[in-house]
Amino acid sequence: MSGKVLIVDDEKLMRISLESQLKKEGYNVKSVDNAIDGLKMVKSEEYDVVVTDLRLSGMSGMDFLKEIKKHNQEIIVVIMTAYGTLESAVSAIKEGAYDYIAKPFSTDELIIKLQRALYYKNTTAEVNRLRKEIQSEFEFSNIIGNSEAMKRVLETVKSVSERDATVLIRGESGTGKEKIAGAIHYHSMRRNGPFIRVSCAALNREILESELFGHEKGAFTGAVKTRRGRFELANGGSIFLDDVDDIPLDMQVKLLRVLQERTFERVGGEETLGVDVRVICATKKDLLEHVKEGYFREDLFYRLNVVPINIPPLRERKEDIPLLINYFLKKFVSQYEDALPDVSQEVIDVLLVYNWPGNVRELENVIEHAVAFSKSKGISIETLPEYLKRVDIRTDLLSMDLSNKQEINLQDALTEVEKKLIQWAHQKTNGNQVKMAEILGIPRTTLRNRLIKLQLFEKVLS
Ligand SMILES: Nc1ncnc2c1ncn2[C@@H]1O[C@H](COP(=O)(O)OP(=O)(O)OP(=O)(O)O)[C@@H](O)[C@H]1O
Ligand SMILES: [Mg+2]
Repeated sequence: MSGKVLIVDDEKLMRISLESQLKKEGYNVKSVDNAIDGLKMVKSEEYDVVVTDLRLSGMSGMDFLKEIKKHNQEIIVVIMTAYGTLESAVSAIKEGAYDYIAKPFSTDELIIKLQRALYYKNTTAEVNRLRKEIQSEFEFSNIIGNSEAMKRVLETVKSVSERDATVLIRGESGTGKEKIAGAIHYHSMRRNGPFIRVSCAALNREILESELFGHEKGAFTGAVKTRRGRFELANGGSIFLDDVDDIPLDMQVKLLRVLQERTFERVGGEETLGVDVRVICATKKDLLEHVKEGYFREDLFYRLNVVPINIPPLRERKEDIPLLINYFLKKFVSQYEDALPDVSQEVIDVLLVYNWPGNVRELENVIEHAVAFSKSKGISIETLPEYLKRVDIRTDLLSMDLSNKQEINLQDALTEVEKKLIQWAHQKTNGNQVKMAEILGIPRTTLRNRLIKLQLFEKVLS
């Protein structure tokens, strides 16, 4: 690993020999005999590492270090110290130096330190880059939705992020629960701490307990060494408990205690550990129903449900569909394409009429499929997955979601269906009432009466 190194030392021999030896090793090296010139160079060129003596005439090594850090935190500084001046090395490290090397040293010793320093620098840069990438995924601008329901969700997210309140997110599969949980964490004061996710549904009871709380060596067969659980790993950040309804009753007690006291013990452990975490939960179920049925502790429910966020299914906020289509097109269209592909009206009709049982995730997959099959041409029906090509706009028009309903008023439901059919005919015929009556198989006068009764298309009627 080679890098750009600046050596600052007023001992000429030392400086020149170091410079030439490091150059032989493939480093890009420059050297100067004082900190003032050194600082100018650091400000005008990009150095990875500065190796500097502490005792320098003019500006001291310590001030030099502070100035470098003021200019750019990421530059690595290694201090050279004379024998017996360990104390000053320690204070330099407190000021942000990465390491020190005691004189006299061999070039090999310095090379080892340089290699470690460069490795550290590259890794830190990579971690920062990845963190930014993850954070941007959870920016508010990347949470799409203009429906009243989504606006409400976003308002709650914004107002609750900064507070440390426990949040319970409810929504069907693929509605964006994890995205909302991430947005809360990455807009909170804990944003630089860890965001730890646990899927409570994917793990059986024993594994889940040790996953959440960790275990001591020998706690059970197979526990060959002590392992920290997700709560410990989330310390200083947030923990996201997905499918929280799947936590078995006896473990709900332990979870309740963490929420109340922020303490727990590892499986098989005696020591009580404290944690500082924010808890965000998600569920696809109606948790209060689970409480009534005795599967979920009532006290835990109220602890979790401090701030409830309900994300409605996509079929109940279809006005978000066009925005989401656009968003996913941008995501999947190659960055080398100049413009987004055109989406045919037929495709939009199908996507608006379809019921979206898989919600936003399903729409995302459909757009990815369509982009892959569009071969840089527009998005037509042919680019959609097979099952969507078969969607019949007329019959799907009538589909209703009855899954969450306990009762239905038949008259209201029939009126809804009638409205939908008349709207369909209106769209199909561009509002031509003669043709509308024809394709609906009713006399024109009947159609007119229905339009008035249902208060449809007032402009057409007047
Ligand atoms: N409002 C939105 N804007 C943009 N992308 C979204 C939105 N909602 C969901 N997504 C995307 O849809 C996909 C599914 O979202 P997410 O994983 O958050 O759903 P989920 O509710 O956690 O699903 P599951 O219940 O299956 O775990 C992700 O790729 C996510 O980025
Ligand atoms: Mg999820």
